[in-house]
Amino acid sequence: MKGIVLAAGAGTRLYPASQPISKILLPIYDKPMIYYAISTLMLAGIKDILIITNEADNDNFQKLLGDGSQYGINLQYKIQYVQRGIADAFLISEDFINGEDVALILGDNIFHGFGFSTFLKNVLTDRKGATVFGYRVKDPERFGVVEFDESGKAISLEEKPAKPKSNFAVTGLYFYDKNVCDYAKTLKLSARGELEITDLNRVYLEKGLLNVEILGRGFTWLDTGTQDSMLEAANFVRAIEANKGEQISCLEEIALYKDFIAPEELEKRLQRFKGKSAYYDYVFEIIEMKKKILKHSHK
Ligand code: DAU
Repeated sequence: MKGIVLAAGAGTRLYPASQPISKILLPIYDKPMIYYAISTLMLAGIKDILIITNEADNDNFQKLLGDGSQYGINLQYKIQYVQRGIADAFLISEDFINGEDVALILGDNIFHGFGFSTFLKNVLTDRKGATVFGYRVKDPERFGVVEFDESGKAISLEEKPAKPKSNFAVTGLYFYDKNVCDYAKTLKLSARGELEITDLNRVYLEKGLLNVEILGRGFTWLDTGTQDSMLEAANFVRAIEANKGEQISCLEEIALYKDFIAPEELEKRLQRFKGKSAYYDYVFEIIEMKKKILKHSHK
């Protein structure tokens, strides 16, 4: 399965903070926002990832993340020149997807929860069509909203409705089958001039091929589109990291946990960061731990 991070937004709502640099490169507490999105794809076991950026920031993303080999993954980059909507990602990335199944995550979405990796594996096993996630929110009118019937079956989808039919927002993590590019080509621009992801999901819904999974109490989903939601997310990450002494969305840790890269190889690549920051101190601790685990298991 391929993965896409859509990170091309202008971030105008955050101006002047995001004037010189993409919002998706701004920090959420101790790491750039895009780490959280990439970590979700890695936890889903995805190693081939395309990052779609705006024209001005493409170099900055590459400077930060390179070709992904330090995380044992393969990163490629493309530019979205005009903000034509989230579903435009599938027109931009048709070559990259190359007829495979694909996951899309919005660069400003954060997912966290115990066993997220296993949860994703379970919901994606033997699934046809598309899979999206519903999450209960207080302010559904800000999001795509899914309505269910009494049996829990999804029956309608609306983008930012004035009168939401439920409290369940559709999160910015989507899994699609190989037909997604063909369906994306059939979409028309909405009144606000975008190819809407909700219209794409509705194509699957109308074919009876949309699975809506509820992200329950054990999971947290945050959309960091505004100053307030960025601060909330930073406080959330800080609270968990300080309390447990564990990082959220540390890409190197996930790469080691998933066996995408060997600890010795990672250690070699990160030498220049040794002793430089709390983030990298943590990574070096995890490297040592992983080495011990491997040594033990080879005995
Ligand atoms: O976060 C979940 C929500 O994301 C969903 O519930 C909605 O259905 C979906 O439309 C979207 O709503 P937003 O209001 O958050 O969309 P926004 O226009 O803010 O775009 C989300 C991210 O995608 C943002 O970081 C910018 C980026 N983006 C957006 C568009 C329209 C692009 O990179 N290119 C684009 O053309």
